[in-house]
Amino acid sequence: MAVLPDDLSSALDDELARHPVARLTQSVDRLSARYRQGDAAASPILSSDVDVAAYAGYRMPATYAAVHAALAEAASRAPGFEPRTQIDVGGGTGAAVWAAAGVWPSLAKCTVLEQVAGAIGLGKRLAAGAGLPAVRDAEWRRGLVDPAAPAPEADLVTLSYVLGELPDATRAGVVRWLAAKAGAVALIEPGTPAGYERIRAARAELIDLGLHVVAPCPHDAACPIAPGQDWCHFAARLPRSGLHRRLKAGTLGFEDEKFAYVVASRTAPERPDARIIRHPKKHKGWVALDLCTASEGLKPAVAVSKKQGQRYRAARDAEWGDGWPVD
Ligand SMILES: C[S@@+](CC[C@H](N)C(=O)[O-])C[C@H]1O[C@@H](n2cnc3c(N)ncnc32)[C@H](O)[C@@H]1O
Repeated sequence: MAVLPDDLSSALDDELARHPVARLTQSVDRLSARYRQGDAAASPILSSDVDVAAYAGYRMPATYAAVHAALAEAASRAPGFEPRTQIDVGGGTGAAVWAAAGVWPSLAKCTVLEQVAGAIGLGKRLAAGAGLPAVRDAEWRRGLVDPAAPAPEADLVTLSYVLGELPDATRAGVVRWLAAKAGAVALIEPGTPAGYERIRAARAELIDLGLHVVAPCPHDAACPIAPGQDWCHFAARLPRSGLHRRLKAGTLGFEDEKFAYVVASRTAPERPDARIIRHPKKHKGWVALDLCTASEGLKPAVAVSKKQGQRYRAARDAEWGDGWPVD
């Protein structure tokens, strides 16, 4: 479970308590419908303080969980990468700064670039009591994603759940701008077919610029998934707080945030032979793994049987998203 840090969770509860639940619920309904629509935003989607609070209440725990999962996987593949600086573009209320600072204690200076003043205000209030100095001392800058401006210059540049709000025709240029002066770039999108297609296109741009994929792919070759046939995505499980449950009208105590992502770096990472790209199917005496491999592209339903001893035990414990050693 990806649990929000206690300091963030209690600051978020305090912020949400400032608004009547009925207003928050109305905003959640409007925002959910708008995000499901999925096309580029001609004007900021977060258009009032109650929208910003509603976003923080119903989306920030999930975007935090997804970004944390993506960055933690990248950190495990690049143990020598110890970023000191981060710029989070389209940072909203700061989920990716909290996630990155949680993954890399080396971070000393985080900057959030965001267009909506209300999101900056709430993000700052949430960060004010953070235990992690990199979050507490983050710099918040009001501004636009603008490939005509100087490129973000940091060890780590993050862009989470933003590509989909940008016009189609500008995305490739934005990705090149994000990567121009970054040590590593992390892009996270919803785990939908459309989110995956945006990540797939961005990944190709990053490789074209000479960066190496740190995660999730075990290779820098073209994505082997046939366009329109399937989509590469992962899931992060997170608990729902009481208010979160009311806002989302759900009864479950948890939710699974599906996300697609790519983390790429100027330094070659330690990649696994393969990655498990679906929930392993656990049968009596054998496990079936759907793999994306470095050497042979997609390998669906690879059987690992009980006769394989330790390998079988590893397969039984393996999860969707884990790396996997090929024989
Ligand atoms: C879905 S929210 C994601 C927020 C945050 N990154 C997260 O993961 O929770 C998208 C954010 O991108 C910001 N955004 C969208 N287009 C932008 C642009 N052109 N320039 C700056 N910020 C932008 C929005 O204002 C919003 O805060």
